[in-house]
Amino acid sequence: MTTIPKPRQPILKTSLPGPKTAAIMERDSKHLSTSYMRPYPFVPDHGEGVWLTDVDGNTMLDFFAGIAVSTTGHAHPHVVKAVQEQITKFAHVCLTDYPQEITTSLAERLIAHVEKPGEKWRAFFGNSGAEAVEAAVKLARNHTGRTHIISTLGSFHGRTYGAITLTGSKTKYKRGFGPLLPGVSHVPYPNPFRPPLGSDAQFCGDAVLDHIKLLFTTVIPADEVAAIIIEPMQGEGGYIIPPMGFLKKLRGLCDQHGILLIFDEVQSGMGRTGKMFSFQQFEEYGGVQPDIITIAKGIASGMPISAMLAKESVMTWPVGSHGSTFGGNPVAAAAAHATLDLLEGVVKHPGCGSDLMTNAAQVGDYILSELRQMQTEFPFLGDVRGKGLFIGMEFVKPDGSPDGKLRDAASMAMFERGLLNLDCGESVIRISPPLTLTREEAQTGLEIMREALRGLGE
Ligand SMILES: Cc1ncc(COP(=O)(O)O)c(C=O)c1O
Repeated sequence: MTTIPKPRQPILKTSLPGPKTAAIMERDSKHLSTSYMRPYPFVPDHGEGVWLTDVDGNTMLDFFAGIAVSTTGHAHPHVVKAVQEQITKFAHVCLTDYPQEITTSLAERLIAHVEKPGEKWRAFFGNSGAEAVEAAVKLARNHTGRTHIISTLGSFHGRTYGAITLTGSKTKYKRGFGPLLPGVSHVPYPNPFRPPLGSDAQFCGDAVLDHIKLLFTTVIPADEVAAIIIEPMQGEGGYIIPPMGFLKKLRGLCDQHGILLIFDEVQSGMGRTGKMFSFQQFEEYGGVQPDIITIAKGIASGMPISAMLAKESVMTWPVGSHGSTFGGNPVAAAAAHATLDLLEGVVKHPGCGSDLMTNAAQVGDYILSELRQMQTEFPFLGDVRGKGLFIGMEFVKPDGSPDGKLRDAASMAMFERGLLNLDCGESVIRISPPLTLTREEAQTGLEIMREALRGLGE
């Protein structure tokens, strides 16, 4: 089906940025929105698998996959073929008004990954993560007849007005944009490495639950809360995994008060952690089932489509109350099917010898164990954590406080050696490569990291 890119090193033909990159960046800085960030000078030209080549011919190893989006790597032949086939049939009709088999079957496939015996789920399709979150919040309010939504600090849910109100990671996203959506509160996220509310790693989940209970008796009537929205594993906030058992207890609290539980799987879902959805990682600890799930990013290997899945008993909004012109676009849906084929192993990715979820779990375990070794050499790596190919490395000062400056220097040093990476949280680098990453490619990336970190002290 495809030629497998051989494990290789980044190829740096010019100093960075090369002349063509510099010229485009100059034009970009003059004509595009002033809100765009440019963490380092990189202008892609084409990609293959986990490799991206810039306009100057420099080939870089991609350890961030366009923020956890390029699930199957760049230009995967199976995805390309699916897109080409669909676009020659029709590119748009409008799902809000007309059913299309490709989205019907996509809904069925996604739902099959969450439905438990005795349950029925339904799907709504949008174009972006923020739209899936907006849909979830609108549905939760419409279904419960309640207004209040509880979110978490450190969270990221998108940049539309509703989603940005829920987002709790950085004030820069909110400054100057108010007034935001009324009826939204934030509670701490149970971060075992930096336990909130004076708790410790083991009991930080209980401390957060006690805090919510306190809010229910003091400032937020529980019977006015429509939903609690949470990332089962927090992305933008620092790639944080909550303590085992926390989500199940949160589910219990929601049930006690008739509150819907929304899991935002936009970043952590679609096989990235080694299971289809990150909340399914907690199954061996009694499991937890949300009422609503939001999905985007990795769903279609870069084509824009998102989904909001909800239990049938919850999806009660009336005909015509919500929709989208482009949402559930058939070409993007074709890419989502092809992505699912590779995630589920219906179609084998030649480089892995297994389905991509299993590959993510195995290669992720390898990277984590190597990073833990690296911690002994580099004491400023305060924490390495993650599941599958959802991995964070946190940089700390000698007193244990976050070292954002060192993280920034490390990120740039890795880029200069040909490793595309991205920050998150206060002092974390996230490792979120395509799920096609082989062990050999992972090793190449780890060697670059080691070299970059060694260079930091010089
Ligand atoms: C957990 C989570 N939810 C929602 C979003 C918003 O997605 P989008 O940028 O596609 O609107 C993001 C984006 O980073 C995210 O990480």
